[in-house]
Amino acid sequence: MPEDSNLTTNRRIAASDDLEVSAYLEIAQELSGQRLDQSEPIEAHQETLLVLDFGSQYSRLIARRIREAHVYCEIIPHDAPWETVADLNPKGIILSGGPASVYEDDAPLAPAWVFESGLPVLGICYGMQAMVHQLGGKVNAGAKREFGHAVIHQNATDFPLFDGLPASMPVWMSHGDQVTELPPGFSALAFSDNSPMAVLGDDNKRIGIQFHPEVVHTPEGKAIIQNFLYGICGCHQLWTPGNFVAEAIESIRAQVGDGKVICALSGGVDSAVAATLVHRAVGDQLTCIFVDNGLMRREEPERVRATFERYLKVNLAYVDAAEHFLGALKGVVDPERKRKIIGEEFIRVFEEEAARLGQVDFLTQGTLYPDVIESKTSESKVSAKIKTHHNVGGLPEHMRLSLVEPLRYLFKDEVREVGLELGLPEEMVFRQPFPGPGLAIRVMGDVTIEKLETLRAADWVVMDEVKANDLYRELWQSFAVLTESRTVGVSGDYRTYDHVVAIRAVTSDDAMTADWARLPYDVLARISNRIANEVPNVNRVVYDITSKPPGTIEWE
Ligand code: XMP
Repeated sequence: MPEDSNLTTNRRIAASDDLEVSAYLEIAQELSGQRLDQSEPIEAHQETLLVLDFGSQYSRLIARRIREAHVYCEIIPHDAPWETVADLNPKGIILSGGPASVYEDDAPLAPAWVFESGLPVLGICYGMQAMVHQLGGKVNAGAKREFGHAVIHQNATDFPLFDGLPASMPVWMSHGDQVTELPPGFSALAFSDNSPMAVLGDDNKRIGIQFHPEVVHTPEGKAIIQNFLYGICGCHQLWTPGNFVAEAIESIRAQVGDGKVICALSGGVDSAVAATLVHRAVGDQLTCIFVDNGLMRREEPERVRATFERYLKVNLAYVDAAEHFLGALKGVVDPERKRKIIGEEFIRVFEEEAARLGQVDFLTQGTLYPDVIESKTSESKVSAKIKTHHNVGGLPEHMRLSLVEPLRYLFKDEVREVGLELGLPEEMVFRQPFPGPGLAIRVMGDVTIEKLETLRAADWVVMDEVKANDLYRELWQSFAVLTESRTVGVSGDYRTYDHVVAIRAVTSDDAMTADWARLPYDVLARISNRIANEVPNVNRVVYDITSKPPGTIEWE
């Protein structure tokens, strides 16, 4: 699928004007268990926390923590102009940490509007130092770097950020610089062994903390963030899957009008949730296209079909293109060529199918927030890293369809929550990632129907055992690989000379790095026995104990 090209114009899903406020309140009360003040009309999405990104590896974690507290937030570049955020109705600002030192030339600073807006501001680590520096205090290199566990002690007991929390708390620190002089109007609110001013604030709800509340090593971090959100910024817990669905539907309706929409289903959770939302919004104006490339796991195409056609009653163009793909892959052994061919064939088949539908106006994509952040922060000077994507191909320019991307402000776990809210089956919602080129990159060497059938049978056993032992959700991915090796074995009185299957199971947070999973020996034993007994042409099973790096998750 193509990368987002329309970042600035295609802003977030706007709050709907005509949804009943009382309906929002009811849902929010039910989900949060809290009563909200009915005299204060609130629109579900109209409370945003802004996270100004100074390049910290933790900016996303801050955003995740805020969302988990049911408050909507966006990560914005540290120098974003006010005009780009004004329509989000910000309720507060968090200044993230970052690798720079404020006293260096070109150190990234916050724009003036941050301190002139009157909004509560919480500066974390570098964010606090930037605030101190900009408001007239002093920051210097500390005599000693403070990294890891520390304890902070409050100077007073009535500080709202620490409401309900003990006078001394363990926290996680990671800094070299230190505040040495407070800005006018500020006072020191807590200290640690190495930071005499570890927490500071003024009467205008501008607060700085030297430690990181967003990491799990700060045990009270969640409570501190919630105190900031609810107590200091006055946010309500409006960011819930139910509210999101209601808003997204309204917003899709507004965007699409009576236009025609297509969506390519991959079998994965993102396209499934995006398609389901669009279907809820515009019904039969949506047609989903599912290309069966003959490279999926056993029963997978049938399940996607059953879910969308029979259960969700979505218009589905099911294209059986297995022969087509296998023909194009015949004799190809190079992994990158396999990927390229599969990507190109996908586009060709998808285009043909779309052309059959006549005039089409919109294309739905399951773009997620991490991709959006990457594109945004890569425009900003302080960004550090850009992930490589390996999605199958992109749609050609000439299709000229407007994008409908209802998930572009969601993290993956939020997509799953929305999927459950929409009633999608759990097995679809929690499906492990599966590569676009499918089993073609798990069959080493050339791809044939026979090899695919062998791999499917082995993969079925892996899945079956992983699920039966409640390991499926713990593992990032788990699957079988059909190697090119053949080895000698013995079956009854006969010598065999058959294929080796490798089992791959990894844990990971984001696929950038991964660790091989310490699967219990008895699970491995059952998988091995069953594959050797149930899968023809395989007489040996090995377990891949390579992490990433130096290995990759897939073998090709
Ligand atoms: P590697 O093998 O690079 O994989 O460690 C990282 C993640 O990406 C998936 N992957 C792909 N996904 N098209 C995809 O859509 C591809 O060509 C592709 N190659 C790898 C892999 O399954 C893992 O989740």
